[in-house]
Amino acid sequence: MVEDHGGRAAWSGGPGFVLAAIGSAVGLGNMWRFAATTSVSGGAAFVLLYLGLTLAVGLPLLLAELSLGRRMRSGPVGALRSAAGAPGLLLGGAFAASGFLIFSFYAVIAGWTVRYGVTALLSGLPSDPGAYFGEVATGWDAALYHMGFVAGTAGVVGTGIRRGIERAALLLIPFLFAVLVALAVWAAALPGAGDGFAFYLRPDWSDVLAPRTIAEAAGQTYFSMSLGMGAMLTFASYRGSGGDLPAEGTVIALSDFGVAFLAGLVIFPLVFALGFEEGVIGLEADQAEGVLFLALPAAFHGLGSLGRVLAVVFFAALAAAALTSTLSLLEVVVSTAVDELGVGRPTAAAVGGAAVAVAGLAPAHSLGVLGLLNTVAGEIMLAAGALAIAVVVGWVVPDPVAELEKGAGRRIRRLLPLWLLALRWVVTPITLLVLLLMLMEVAA
Ligand code: PHE
Repeated sequence: MVEDHGGRAAWSGGPGFVLAAIGSAVGLGNMWRFAATTSVSGGAAFVLLYLGLTLAVGLPLLLAELSLGRRMRSGPVGALRSAAGAPGLLLGGAFAASGFLIFSFYAVIAGWTVRYGVTALLSGLPSDPGAYFGEVATGWDAALYHMGFVAGTAGVVGTGIRRGIERAALLLIPFLFAVLVALAVWAAALPGAGDGFAFYLRPDWSDVLAPRTIAEAAGQTYFSMSLGMGAMLTFASYRGSGGDLPAEGTVIALSDFGVAFLAGLVIFPLVFALGFEEGVIGLEADQAEGVLFLALPAAFHGLGSLGRVLAVVFFAALAAAALTSTLSLLEVVVSTAVDELGVGRPTAAAVGGAAVAVAGLAPAHSLGVLGLLNTVAGEIMLAAGALAIAVVVGWVVPDPVAELEKGAGRRIRRLLPLWLLALRWVVTPITLLVLLLMLMEVAA
């Protein structure tokens, strides 16, 4: 393990850190939730709203997490305790708990992607994806694939920051990008693809500025950019002080947006060109798995042996995206055990993984539990965590701009006061609103 600052593990440098952070951000959230939400929430109008929120809310929050992590050189518990005392300690604990809970259901869905890929490879996807999904999504099979995915994640995290997480991202993220670009180009050329573009991007401005739409988009931003539970904070704690965090954060934010947008350019043309649009029209965001696990497999099936190859490649790319995200989820738990309890990294990864493997039994056996975990940990806890980060970095920590100034160019340094303003007066109120709307929705 490379040890540079204060005996702490470290990335090999800027590119390794940025790739690992993109790996955390780019995941299942980009591949299904964004596309489904866009198609029901205003098409191109929603895309613009989402891009605006990525830059005005997501990026300032990301920079807040990155600066806090690098400044405190610790996982969430240590970092927040240094920043905010005893309340911070509780908050950091809640972050690690979020990571644990999100990991427990996210790895179940990741297990489905592996399962679909393996089936496509060995025998081809069956002709009735609905029945197939019902068969594999819950039960002991789902639990087994979940456990396999968790074991793989724990193996990589246990290996280390640089030799484990960074190397995995180095390998998998370029693969994912290449697959998506190739599929998007190919899908665009299919006859009938235009209807898919029209459906995906048809601009509907009618309720794009409704509070509910904004809350939906902001919630998607937190999840998609891995904000509000300390994943980005923890990754930045392994970054040297020479790095230009504002520039690196911008690359991470735009890559996350780009992949989400690109995934839509694959999914909709393909599904419409092959006549499976009834599987995506009128879909609510919480039925979003329908796109990936029902409509797309049906489209792949319709393409015969070419479809089989495409299905293998596509689900492998999905699994890769999911793995680089689960690495960061487990890393939050592991870094907490390493920093606070002095446990060795391989031990922490093994014990944490084993606990998640057991916790995942519930969502692997019930889609209701899975949905509940998604709402509580994937939405509410992230929004609450994002609010906490905005308050701690924006209002509590002394001189928050100083950490971001280190390593940043002169032009960027001049923009940093704007960052603090955005954190205080854009991110804080919007996130508070989002949290309230989410809680009202649950109460209703
Ligand atoms: N950002 C990941 C995705 O879009 C999910 C995730 C959330 C990962 C929170 C880590 C922390 O799929």
